[in-house]
This record gives sequence, C-alpha cells and structure tokens, in this order.
Amino acid sequence: VTSAEAQTVTKEEVITDHPFNNVTENIFTKIGANLHRRPDHPICIIKEAIHRFFDERHPGVFSKLDDLHPVVSAYANFDEVLVPADHVSRNPNDTYYIDTETVLRCHTSAHQAETLRSGERAFLVTGDVYRRDTIDQSHYPVFHQMEGVKVLDPEQYSDAAAGAKVAESELKETLEGLAEHLFGKGIETRWVDAYFPFTDPSFELEIFFNGEWLEVLGCGVMEQQILDKNGFEGQKAWAFGLGLERLAMVLFSIPDIRLFWTEDQRFLKQFKAGSLRAKFKPYSKFPPCFKDVSFWLPEDGFTENNLCEVVRGIAGDLVESVELIDNFTNPKKQKTSHCYRIAYRSMDRSLTDQEINDLQDAVRSSLTDDLKVELR
Ligand code: PHE
Repeated sequence: VTSAEAQTVTKEEVITDHPFNNVTENIFTKIGANLHRRPDHPICIIKEAIHRFFDERHPGVFSKLDDLHPVVSAYANFDEVLVPADHVSRNPNDTYYIDTETVLRCHTSAHQAETLRSGERAFLVTGDVYRRDTIDQSHYPVFHQMEGVKVLDPEQYSDAAAGAKVAESELKETLEGLAEHLFGKGIETRWVDAYFPFTDPSFELEIFFNGEWLEVLGCGVMEQQILDKNGFEGQKAWAFGLGLERLAMVLFSIPDIRLFWTEDQRFLKQFKAGSLRAKFKPYSKFPPCFKDVSFWLPEDGFTENNLCEVVRGIAGDLVESVELIDNFTNPKKQKTSHCYRIAYRSMDRSLTDQEINDLQDAVRSSLTDDLKVELR
C-alpha cells in the first residue's frame, strides 16, 4: 500500500512507449489532483458526510483510507477481485494500461484484498478511478469512488448460510440509512439485482430523484474466496462501491461533471466543508456550439472510446458531449459511415468562433492521422 502523497508519479512513469500503454497527457494531469482531499470541494464534502454516517452507526468500527495510490497492478485491479479473464473491463478500450501488468485503477475494489490482508475488518477506501468512456455531462474519464467493506463479527451468525443472510440484511439496512442521511428521510430507494464478480448476491441501489430512478451504488455479499485468501477464512462480509460525483451532482444540483475540475471561484466558493445543503447556482449560461463530423470507419477497427479520447486530448474540458447522430452501411462498398455531433462549451467563459473552429480542425486532422478514418 503506497500513499499518493508519499509517492508522486512522473509523466515518464505513466506514459511509456510500451505497446499496451494508452495513458494520455490529459489523464496524466489529473493524477494527484486529489479532489476528495480538498476540504471545501463537493467531492470531499460528500466523503466526509459518509464517514460521519458510518461513525454514528458503527462507532469506532470503520478505518478510513483516502490516499492509496491510483497506479495499481492489473492483478489487484482484476484478479484479486475475481474479474474473469474475458471480462470487458480488462479491455484496453475500457481501462488505462501503463503496461500489461499495471493499470490506473478502474474501481476502488482494487484495494479490497490488500486492505483485508493488512488486517482491517471494516474500512472505507476513497480514491480517484480511471475509465476510458464516451463523453457526456455525467461521464468523465476520472471520477471518485468510495469502497466500503465490513467483515461480520463471527458472533452475529451460527453457520455460513445464516452469515450470508445477516450480511445481506445488514448491508441493505446500512445503505438505506446512508441514503436517508445524505438525501433526507423522505428519499425513495429501491434494490435491483445485479452482477459483480466479487459479490454474490449482488445488488444496485437506486434513488428516485427529479422524476427518475438513478443508480448510485453497487454492492453485495463478498465472495468467500476473497475472504478465504486474505486472512478471513470462513468469515462473512459485505461490500459496496459508490460513485461520489453521481451523489454530489444529485445532492448539490451540479449539472455537469466537468465542474468538479474547475478552479473557478464562482464554483468553488459555493461549497463549504460540513454543509450538505448547498444548491449550486449556475453562473454561466454560455451557449453550446455544435459541430458535426462524418467519416467512413477504417477496416481495422474503430471505437467510440478512442474517438472520445482524441476529442478530449484536443479540447480538454471544452467538450461537453460527443453523440453518434447517424450510422449507415453502404452495402455495395461494404463501408460504414458514422456522423458524430460534438458539443463545445466552457463552464467558465464564452468561446470564440475562431477557437471552436481551430479545435474542430484539429479533431478532423487527428481523426485521419491517428484513427485512420476517411473523412466524408
Ligand atoms: N466496483 C464496483 C463498480 O465499480 C462497485 C462494487 C463495489 C460492487 C463493491 C460491489 C461491491 O461498479
């Protein structure tokens, strides 16, 4: 277990010429930002509120870790939490690899096994996690998760089957309590069956907010193997993983996930450590500017994640969304065409036509040079 502070990463350590390396400059600049450790930042405010809830419900039980390094072994990120060899999340289209053995963690579950091995029976691990993905107002390639694990006291149950039942009910009660703690007593919640490689049974918790059901966390009864291999043989535990941006967007009415990364005081000064009741007042209504780009896909593969990586590399936080608006195959030519609509908008200022045209031109060049598409 290495601490993010004790060990800073250099660019050369994460962007290498290893053929598997797919970490970008843009991603490198986010490592070490530690939004979850800045007291007046909404991500940290939510983290602290969750810590308080666990301290009230289970005084003195949970250890809190929030400085574990985001560079982890693929073994810890996947194998130790039983992610199958052919699971999509292992694909470099979805995960940032430094080399075949090393990744930027794609979930805080990467720390379950090592934290158990260190002897902790109940813990909350918060950190930045990294995922290649498409672009819209609620997806960003870096976000923050909190992992919770609690190994039951063996006195809570008589045999394994009973233990699993106790774990499931304690888990559900605890997380429903957490939802009420964050959103108020009237909050409506529902449980949906889910699948995770590291829990069985597995569930997702959804909350009803502004007329729709939102998934806020995944959880379940921890797979026995993980306990057996890491110092808690035959014992029972539950685990959850929640997305802090999602909770913060709902709680503080933050409309766009890029806002968490702004240094604009008009955003930052609206939040104060300890205050869960702030409602974000937008200071900018700068209009978006839409640009379309159409191209024939190359023969040797194209993914929307790769396109989005290119666009983010050029436009950074000035890109708000990338949406596929047309998709057809010419049967004679056996070629497929995609048209994407890119929305450019700054959270902090208005953009000039010149600036947007330059960005779009750079995107077009990179599409041919790097993604080998044929522009139409
Ligand atoms: N790691 C899961 C995710 O990122 C969340 C999770 C954590 C689910 C722990 C179950 C138990 O989606």
